[in-house]
Amino acid sequence: MGHGVISTAPQDADVAAQAGSRRSFAVISHPDAGKSTLTEALALHAHAINEAGHTNGKSGRRHTVSDWMDIEQARGISISSASLQLNYRDTVLNLVDTPGHADFSEDTYRVLSAVDAAVMLIDAAKGLETQTMKLFNVCKHRGIPIITVINKWDRPGLDPLALMDEITERTGLSPTPRTWPVGSAGDFRGVLDRRTGQYVHFTATAGGAHIAPEDVLGPEDAAAQEGEAWTTAVEEADLLSISGADHDQETFLAGVSTPVLFAAAVRNFGVHALLDTLVDLAPAPAPRPTAVGEARAVEDPFSAFVFKMQAGMDTSHRDRLAFVRVCSGTFERGMVVTCARTGRPFATKYAQQAFGRERAVIEQAFPGDVVGLVNATDLRVGDTLYLGPAIEYPALPTFAPEHFATVRARDAGRYKQFRRGIAQLSAEGVVQVLRSDLRGDQAPVLAAVGPMQFEVAQHRMASEFNAPVHLETLSYSLALRTTAEWAPVLDGELGVEVLRREDGDLLALFPDKWRLQSVRRVHPDAALEPLVAA
Ligand code: G4P
Repeated sequence: MGHGVISTAPQDADVAAQAGSRRSFAVISHPDAGKSTLTEALALHAHAINEAGHTNGKSGRRHTVSDWMDIEQARGISISSASLQLNYRDTVLNLVDTPGHADFSEDTYRVLSAVDAAVMLIDAAKGLETQTMKLFNVCKHRGIPIITVINKWDRPGLDPLALMDEITERTGLSPTPRTWPVGSAGDFRGVLDRRTGQYVHFTATAGGAHIAPEDVLGPEDAAAQEGEAWTTAVEEADLLSISGADHDQETFLAGVSTPVLFAAAVRNFGVHALLDTLVDLAPAPAPRPTAVGEARAVEDPFSAFVFKMQAGMDTSHRDRLAFVRVCSGTFERGMVVTCARTGRPFATKYAQQAFGRERAVIEQAFPGDVVGLVNATDLRVGDTLYLGPAIEYPALPTFAPEHFATVRARDAGRYKQFRRGIAQLSAEGVVQVLRSDLRGDQAPVLAAVGPMQFEVAQHRMASEFNAPVHLETLSYSLALRTTAEWAPVLDGELGVEVLRREDGDLLALFPDKWRLQSVRRVHPDAALEPLVAA
């Protein structure tokens, strides 16, 4: 290895301690539930190590953090995402950002492969919304523990017990409230801390720009101060205890129960409780299962996987950032690591932390941390990087695409640029690329979970690769995996087409489920395996 950084790496015990004091999580929510507001509130209450997004209010944030891609600016949405590192109570919290737009992309799902816990943020007036449910299902699939935060309690909303029922019925999770609101939605005075029986009283500050003072009162003082609101909270908390809605670490870690907190992010109410819950309950990085090679203890030599690729801010340089999640060992900037897929070395000369527009160079990182590697043109989403004995983490899940379109260079003379661009978008996982001999390389098929992926692809082909493209939507809506043996049979069916994806999988495309059913009737033995649904 001869690059002289290993000798300076911290001892195993230090790495284990560093890993043990880390919590990596994402916030999953429906747009408008308050994710950005909560992120800012968390940064305000903790010490943001990579100071970012620290303006108050959405309007300020929009112009400072996430407007670097033209398309984001035009639509006022956040497509790029990375991580925000916070320091709280001797713990490093890595908040891995998920895109907040309603239209779904696979990117969002992949981010969830990089975290050990998720905060499910719910708008008190709306309850569980579609996107929250979609993201929740991905977490469930991966067994990620979930902390639930009921936000906007300062505004009229649903009854808290009804909200608990809704969580149980729709997610199957058993809610175990850690705090319980004093005052109904719209009249948020504070919370009953169910662990101590004490009252945490919140005081609003002007515009929510500062940390809201919290006073802790005993039950008698709370009753004297809040009267009926306190009595009601105590009665409801008793009901919860009777029904067994108490925290259980084992079921929480297994993704069976979920601690619940009540908050008003915009007023900075309940934010400390969330930070404390993350520190106290969320799991530290654990050994990650591998596809090839021995599983690594967190203190073993360095390993990481790429969960997100992003075009650099300076598009004229065609730079690529690969965001990796460190799984084991110490990352030291300058290290030369191996890419498991190619067996080639990768020099980590430039390493960054990134959150929106903010970039900071980082020198060292530990398990659970997210590092943005610059000049990562040769890396692909899902790649494993390591030092020492070979190891490979399982491929990241690809999701069943529901949208399909052929893509063609507008200017045939720009075919070289076109090919390079399509290859890059595929490597980054912006879109899935499907091909067949019949369609040829001039007009491959793009497949996506959400149609916005096409929009991003089209935009980048023109602005970055100088190869404007023409997209033509295809009328397929379903893709199932098939085998080489069945491919020609299915391809011969009317309205059905079989294409090969970049990862080698053969996908049979159908216009709708009825056509699929009729093909299945004709070929009951056909290999047609469903892909993971988004
Ligand atoms: P998102 O990232 O999940 O999409 O949500 P975001 O934080 O942008 O919040 C969406 C809206 O909800 C914002 O209002 C925000 O101020 C508001 N909000 C967030 N948390 C709370 C809360 O605890 N209580 C109340 N009452 N409102 C909350 P907006 O009008 O869209 O923007 P702004 O102009 O107020 O910033």
